[in-house]
Amino acid sequence: MSTEPSSRPAALVTGGAIRLGRAIALALAGAGYDIVVHYGRSSEAAEATATEIRALGVQCHLAPLDLADVTAIPDYMAAVHAAMPNLRVLVNSASAYTQATIANTTAAIFDQQFQVNLRAPFFLTQAFAAQVEQGSVINIIDNKLAFNQYEYAAYLLAKKTLVEFTRMAALEFAPRITVNGVAPGVVLPAGTRSPEYVAWRIQGIPLHRQGTTDDITGAILYLLGSRFITGQVLTVDGGEGLTNIGQNAAQFDQDKV
Ligand SMILES: NC(=O)c1ccc[n+]([C@@H]2O[C@H](COP(=O)([O-])OP(=O)(O)OC[C@H]3O[C@@H](n4cnc5c(N)ncnc54)[C@H](OP(=O)(O)O)[C@@H]3O)[C@@H](O)[C@H]2O)c1
Repeated sequence: MSTEPSSRPAALVTGGAIRLGRAIALALAGAGYDIVVHYGRSSEAAEATATEIRALGVQCHLAPLDLADVTAIPDYMAAVHAAMPNLRVLVNSASAYTQATIANTTAAIFDQQFQVNLRAPFFLTQAFAAQVEQGSVINIIDNKLAFNQYEYAAYLLAKKTLVEFTRMAALEFAPRITVNGVAPGVVLPAGTRSPEYVAWRIQGIPLHRQGTTDDITGAILYLLGSRFITGQVLTVDGGEGLTNIGQNAAQFDQDKV
């Protein structure tokens, strides 16, 4: 990383090496933020993303952490702040996404889903608020919070609780820090999803299209641009959350058999 002092604000994006997290990191870099890319195992992808970010003319620092290691978070955030003294934004995008009904959820699945999807954003937000005087937190949630899709029981309960945490943290850390959420719909389906599956999901979306990463990053930049919005979750899903259809992979598989 360049040691040249920067006057730009900086943003930490968890899960920033790949997929949606990468798109968020690049969009914030394009908007003039220096970036800290958090990653877990995707070290090569993180290096590639950092190269793309630096090509946009901002600084990029790579900061790996296993988000299951909650005790490491205070020192981790202090190191991030030391590397980027103008740290102003935390985007909690990293997530674990395991399909399991209540009946099939083991204690290990439950713990992992809550560790990554709720406990890590909770303690990262706590540590961020301890480090910075003013700033913004964006929690990436999921439009499935509109449904009770028990096929993703622990994942969805963790994300639903993340919504309540977003509201609670917005109150506790006001007026210094705004805390908001963005709930994406179908944007980047897992690589294992077939084109038929994606087409089937799109049938259930009132605006009849798949979202783009720009749809999500635009919402994030909008929320970051306001000092009068806090404790809100902006759903960006083409209206899917309004329908109560809530189509998902488990139902698709059932349809086929
Ligand atoms: N993709 C979509 O269309 C969609 C739809 C609705 C909601 N969302 C939400 O949007 C966010 C991003 O989605 P995505 O699909 O891009 O996510 P993803 O592909 O599942 O990536 C998740 C990221 O989380 C990181 N991660 C998971 N467990 C970790 C751990 N224990 N320690 C450190 N890092 C860990 C991974 O980092 P490494 O690879 O470095 O290990 C990975 O980069 C998530 O919060 C997701 O719930 C996405």
